[in-house]
Amino acid sequence: MTLSPAAPAPLPVEPPSGCPFDPPAEFGRLRIEEPLTKISLPDGSWAWLATRYADIRAILGDTRFSSDTTRPGYPLSGMTGGANTENRGFIRMDPPEHTRLRRMVTREFMVKRVEAMRPEIQRITDELCDAMERAGSGEQGVDLVEALALPVPSLVISLLLGVPYDDHAVFQDLTGKLLSRTIDEADRDVARRELWSYLDRLVSAKEAAPGDDILSRLITEQQAAGELTHNEVVAFCALLLVAGHETTANMIGLSALTLMGDQETADRLRAEPALIRGAVEELLRFHSIIRNGPRRVATEDIEIAGQVIRAGEGVVVAVPSANRDETVFPDADRLDVCRPNAQHHVAFGYGIHQCLGQALARVELQVVIGTLLRRFPTLRPAVPLAEIPFRTDMAIYGCHALPVTW
Ligand code: HEM
Repeated sequence: MTLSPAAPAPLPVEPPSGCPFDPPAEFGRLRIEEPLTKISLPDGSWAWLATRYADIRAILGDTRFSSDTTRPGYPLSGMTGGANTENRGFIRMDPPEHTRLRRMVTREFMVKRVEAMRPEIQRITDELCDAMERAGSGEQGVDLVEALALPVPSLVISLLLGVPYDDHAVFQDLTGKLLSRTIDEADRDVARRELWSYLDRLVSAKEAAPGDDILSRLITEQQAAGELTHNEVVAFCALLLVAGHETTANMIGLSALTLMGDQETADRLRAEPALIRGAVEELLRFHSIIRNGPRRVATEDIEIAGQVIRAGEGVVVAVPSANRDETVFPDADRLDVCRPNAQHHVAFGYGIHQCLGQALARVELQVVIGTLLRRFPTLRPAVPLAEIPFRTDMAIYGCHALPVTW
């Protein structure tokens, strides 16, 4: 699809000035006036942008909207991994392939399995907090992203997959490049190839000497039975590694920053830790860190909000807009940790691709937020809000760094 002379605007990404937690103000107008609107894409084509909660659930819940990046018309953004057919994970596939592959790892991320990891996640968090305490916050403050927000999910997913955490600098740097909105395509391709060859070597090593982790189980069960190829195991690993640490890390940073600025809520959660579960749902709704999608392409003509989306046309759904839809979440721009329907948010998506790691993300967030509130009651930003580098340049919103003191 090429653009008509009256070219549509690109996807709004900038939060309103002075308000780094809110989605672009434009979404509010679009929800009322143009719930389906055309946006331009970096390659010169266009796609539909959906902004209302009900329409977004309808689109994500309808498998006639495809996740297959190789289909003509799919609204590619660099971060979606390109149209590359062989190396894309099941997040970019449709049934029956998606169902077949997702089923192989579902049990690893079930609530019961993840709950059993809570003590280990608590231990990892406590150790990192001990290290923060020992080092002290000093004059400059400590970067909470580096000290806690990134290492917790990164250590946990490395442990689950069997990726050596000592290599975290390598995979964090490469996944950071894959998720950047500003990097040029050639550099992103280099990062993608480097991550692939790192994981390719890791999978080969596990084929020779399997351990007790998800990758080894995929190798000894599915690959050995001829149900998975070596490359499919590598693709699994790439997807879980990228999805498993950047996302939760940014939610931890933003949640900590929000609670540091809202002492009343922080005090309430300290006094009533049982409220933390609900608070995590509300923080997920409020922050909606996936700012660039999910994305789909229509496989047939489908009517949404009175507008026919033609087969082959792309759709970008604005999760942050759905989660601030006043018709579902009254007073949606206010953080209310006791909001009765916060858990109806679509921060983890909806439908068959709904986040596989959501139980894990929830436990990580509950543990880290609860521990921070308990152990650092005087935690506060070490710099003014205006000096915090927010990730408006990334597909996953958050802060690049968060200097704190206590
Ligand atoms: C706060 C943290 C997280 C958020 C906000 C988040 C958000 C999302 C969203 C919106 C989707 C749907 C994508 C689509 O429909 O195209 C998704 C899918 C996925 N997420 Fe997460 N995620 C988080 C944490 C995690 C973690 C910790 C893992 C760990 C393994 C993970 C693994 C996945 C996978 C594998 C998929 C693809 C599922 C499929 O296609 O069937 N995510 N996530």
